[in-house]
Amino acid sequence: MQIVKTIGELRPIVQKWRREGLSVGLVPTMGYLHEGHKSLILRAVSENDRVVVSDFVNPTQFGVNEDLSTYPRDLERDAAVCEEAGAALIFHPEPEEMYFPDNCTFVDMDSLTKGLCGKTRPTHFRGVCTVVSKLFHIVTPDRAYFGQKDAQQLAVIRRMVRDLNFGITIVGCPIVREEDGLAMSSRNAYLNEGERKAALILHKSLMLGEGMLKAGERDAAKVREAILGNLGTEPLARADYVELVDAETLEPVEKVERPILAAIAVYIGKTRLIDNFTFAAEK
Ligand code: PAF
Repeated sequence: MQIVKTIGELRPIVQKWRREGLSVGLVPTMGYLHEGHKSLILRAVSENDRVVVSDFVNPTQFGVNEDLSTYPRDLERDAAVCEEAGAALIFHPEPEEMYFPDNCTFVDMDSLTKGLCGKTRPTHFRGVCTVVSKLFHIVTPDRAYFGQKDAQQLAVIRRMVRDLNFGITIVGCPIVREEDGLAMSSRNAYLNEGERKAALILHKSLMLGEGMLKAGERDAAKVREAILGNLGTEPLARADYVELVDAETLEPVEKVERPILAAIAVYIGKTRLIDNFTFAAEK
């Protein structure tokens, strides 16, 4: 497995694969890889001849008071995970390689990015769309793999690929959880022992909501209130949002009559965690 740091090194490698008729999968990450990332890489390896993992903490998707400088990084460990999962190459650029100092071009979206995480992170998806577009142009993959844990990001990227005719297949992969239910996230590394226990409230509250829907409840407000109420029982938790939205448009729903996404963002101490489930009512 190779680790390359520049676009100039990466392009000829991918071009050679293309000349050999090989298919290419891309797994975009910000590094500090966990089992969730590994599941994306394994899926990509099973569906493509060569897999590129990008490992880049993208500054443009962090707000001014967010955790860009403290975001966990460990290239050596990431390389071991990628190698074991069968990736062919890690693309690990410096920020200066990805952005010119006078960069003034961004990819943005009118809808889908305003609600959910977009409410408190108004510039986040502009940064995500911009870096993912750049990675798509640099790597030119056939398929790209994203986790369902970042459900809004997945919906936004699907829409961007459709609207901008990228011609890349976007593969969404299931959330990977710790044994006790906590969704895997690089940010779990911020949690101390007490917070780690408290963080279980996210999955428990979502399961409560999902249980109500499975039992036939169709009033989105009631499900939302129940999830919020359950989150409120954990002293270390502070809900940023709890929303039931249309799974494709991400517009809030009143009645659960079509596939929905139930998404939450919750502060556990200073750490903001997200989780979700999707639900399709049987007709
Ligand atoms: O999901 C992430 O880790 C990031 O948002 C992504 C897609 C790699 C873009 O920086």
